[in-house]
Amino acid sequence: MTGDTPDGLSDPLCYLDGELVPLSAARIHPFDRGFVFGDGLYEVFRVRAGRPLWVAEHLDRLESGLAEVRIPLPGGRNEIERAVTEVTARAGLGDGSVYLQITRGAGPRARTPPPDLEPTVLVAPSAHPHLPPAAVPHAAVTVTDRRWGRCDLKTVSLMATVLGKLAARDAGADEVVFATPDGSLREGGSTNLFVRRDDALETHPAGPEILPGITRALLLDLARREGLPLRPAAPRLEQRELWQEAFLCGTLTGVQPLVELDGEPVADGRSGEWTRRLAGALEALERQLCGLG
Ligand code: PDD
Repeated sequence: MTGDTPDGLSDPLCYLDGELVPLSAARIHPFDRGFVFGDGLYEVFRVRAGRPLWVAEHLDRLESGLAEVRIPLPGGRNEIERAVTEVTARAGLGDGSVYLQITRGAGPRARTPPPDLEPTVLVAPSAHPHLPPAAVPHAAVTVTDRRWGRCDLKTVSLMATVLGKLAARDAGADEVVFATPDGSLREGGSTNLFVRRDDALETHPAGPEILPGITRALLLDLARREGLPLRPAAPRLEQRELWQEAFLCGTLTGVQPLVELDGEPVADGRSGEWTRRLAGALEALERQLCGLG
């Protein structure tokens, strides 16, 4: 790798274990447990107009995840927050994202970690344009969920997700939606799923089956404020004839309509009213936060 990010920043500075170094010069030990075992967690922050968004919410999720997997946060929350701010500023990042990964550290290749490991912390920027809300129609395919039993943890072990994304690509779709064998829909490969049915919004309840998305939580809040009824239930495939609309949401893509599932249109195959309304409400909130008027 040259050090250029996939989206065009030319060899930006990244933060690695307390130091700012050019991405091209960053070195991680071959026996880092993130590389060897997938033994680590990550977060993705979206950056808008030079400002990382929803930092407290991402750090809350990161801290509770790290506590569960028993990886300490080197330097504590303030150090990580400083690193995210610094990496954003030093890259001159306007719109894009910042990737943060924390692994248990490098050590002998033993599944049981020695007690004295120093976690590895990487924070790296990427530039990409802000996606207009509700503007990009998405097609998805359902795949049986063969991920592990703790999808609420944002672990870097993503093999089942990669296979799901490949199945989506093979089918000419943009996203995979993980489903149980009996047709309960969980979430996308990198998004949460919402469906409107009987004029109420359904999304899989929080629990070990899904990632508690930051965007999902913001939208649930906005839906309550807008007076849109919520039904705390997972969308079900056998009810899809009754769906009025559906959308996917996540940090990198915001809110985007799901207009096709498994090769068939969702409702009338167009972006729905509540999708546009919630996407607009989130956009307004973000613009206000970023001082974009
Ligand atoms: N993915 N579900 C899964 C499985 C995800 O990987 C993500 C986010 C989401 C949405 O969560 P949030 O609103 O907090 O971004 C739901 C990130 C963006 C990624 O892996 O790149």
